[in-house]
Amino acid sequence: MNFDFDLIVRSFPLLLMGAGVTIQITVLSVGFGLFIGMFMGMARLSKVWAIKALAAVYVDFIRGTPLLVQIFIIYFALPLVLGQRIDPFFAAITACSINSGAYLAEIFRAGIQSIDQGQMEAGRSLGMTWAQTMRYIILPQAFKRIIPPLGNEFIAMLKDSSLVSVIGFEELTRRGQMIIARTYGSFEIWLTVAFIYLIMTLTISRLVDYLERRYKIDDKH
Ligand code: ARG
Repeated sequence: MNFDFDLIVRSFPLLLMGAGVTIQITVLSVGFGLFIGMFMGMARLSKVWAIKALAAVYVDFIRGTPLLVQIFIIYFALPLVLGQRIDPFFAAITACSINSGAYLAEIFRAGIQSIDQGQMEAGRSLGMTWAQTMRYIILPQAFKRIIPPLGNEFIAMLKDSSLVSVIGFEELTRRGQMIIARTYGSFEIWLTVAFIYLIMTLTISRLVDYLERRYKIDDKH
């Protein structure tokens, strides 16, 4: 087998564009997922039975079924109900956000639970409402503690976003497939694709390490 280095050089700009799209999907999905996850995480701790049950069903269903199947449901099954095609970008972001939200809900739930009960009681006894205590006292402290699992979720989503290549959405993996279809350079291209993912995940983990150290020091004051 000949290793065609020039193929890598020629394909690199296209692959980088794919990587840009991969980052876009990840940031948007984890971004929306953070919102969903924060509310679902709090809902899981609600005293109202129905809210708690609803959040539990969401988390169980999403974490208990493959992301790949969820993408198929949104892209292929949902249009049959809506009677209208769905844009692959919209389907990709929706599926990944809903998926990430469930994992983040558990992260938020654990983070909130790790804060001493007395903090809520203290806030309430100062006349703050439940929501105010959550917003100003509990969540800021919980947030520091969940930085490492948040980083993990980011990395997991970045890699798992490769699944949206199955609906033809042109992120990094799909770009790789398309280049190989034209050039047959499986070896060179898949290695390069892997390398680009690796650079991205390593960058995130370094960033998370930095944030973790920064907030650790803060915590002692
Ligand atoms: N690989 C798992 C699945 O297929 C998880 C996908 C999403 N991962 C994540 N951390 N949001 O369901």
